[in-house]
Amino acid sequence: MLNKKTVDDIQLKGKKVLVRCDFNVPMKDGVITDENRIVAALPTIKKLINDGGQVILCSHMGKPKNGPEEKFSLAPVAKRLSEHLGKEVVFANDDTVVGENAKAAVAAMNDGDVVLLQNTRFRKEETKNGEELSKELASLCEVYVNDAFGAAHRAHCSTVGVTQFVDTAVVGYLMEKEINFLGNAVDNPVRPFVAILGGSKVSDKINVINNLLNKVDTLIIGGGMAYTFMKAQGYEIGKSLLEEDKIEYAKEMMAKAEEKGVKLLLPVDNMVSKEFNNDAPFRACEGNLEADEMALDIGPKTQAMYAEALADAKTVVWNGPMGVFEMSNFAKGTVAIAEALASLKDATTIIGGGDSAAAVNQLGFGDKMSHISTGGGASLEFLEGKELPGVVAVNDK
Ligand code: 3PG
Repeated sequence: MLNKKTVDDIQLKGKKVLVRCDFNVPMKDGVITDENRIVAALPTIKKLINDGGQVILCSHMGKPKNGPEEKFSLAPVAKRLSEHLGKEVVFANDDTVVGENAKAAVAAMNDGDVVLLQNTRFRKEETKNGEELSKELASLCEVYVNDAFGAAHRAHCSTVGVTQFVDTAVVGYLMEKEINFLGNAVDNPVRPFVAILGGSKVSDKINVINNLLNKVDTLIIGGGMAYTFMKAQGYEIGKSLLEEDKIEYAKEMMAKAEEKGVKLLLPVDNMVSKEFNNDAPFRACEGNLEADEMALDIGPKTQAMYAEALADAKTVVWNGPMGVFEMSNFAKGTVAIAEALASLKDATTIIGGGDSAAAVNQLGFGDKMSHISTGGGASLEFLEGKELPGVVAVNDK
């Protein structure tokens, strides 16, 4: 269990409360295309409003390289939050984040009011964890709440630096829920514990594979990263994704699994095509691929094998799709895994953020899972066994 103070442990009435959220939501032409992170932040915000706190929200958005840029403004988030909360969220539109608008808006707050600051990354020192911005953020509040699980792996002003200049720093409900789900799964799983790792690159998951092999009963591998493993097994993989310099690592991980008595499952067949194109001809292929073919999804035998391995699982963590799920012809492997998880009874099913969360939601299985993480990089670092700086920085219980 998370041993950090939470919003339930403090007095909030009449207090200025700075809440770091992760409102880094996907946008297209100024429109939010996936608002899960906004919805996930609401329980903490509502609690603070109901308790009579004066709620000052902040977040980053995207990776602005050269300071303020309209396309990275949090204005659309303020609008959407107002709609969700049914009350005005005052948007303090300062390129300097803690500028005249923010100071005036914060000074004018009554209990239960909500202000959203501009994108913290409009200030370059944000990502360098600089002292000036950390102090400016702290100067706005009496209490700091970190509810930005998605950014908890970043040691930035708004996630770490600010905590040095406030007396009280606690976590919000989302952070607490994320850490408890992931932490219980990894450190105290009801067994059998199965992890499913996919996505394109072995190199993104090196430490996750290594760490999870110490914890799980079964490790299932799919997605582009599976083909470096298949190469390590001695198969011809044609033009499939390959990280040549990770073949040795893949062999080491297969040996480690054997030594630990962990079942490591790799594809036995794949859906292959000569082109990276949903309209090109494709076929199911067992074993070796032709030199001009690439694997874009796991095949039907692998789907069945993986579903069987999941059938008696009691704890499952899934990070990374099994194929190019954005293309309908290569989404079946990912759908099969989602279906297998959705049909489990009495199991805790946890979906890592990023692509796997998007896949599960887009495919309509969102409400069938125990927990869908809002953190992509953060959940991976957690699964690697790393401490998250944004969590370390808040007060212990
Ligand atoms: C994410 O989308 O994973 C988080 O919001 C963190 O964003 P970042 O990778 O730009 O720090």
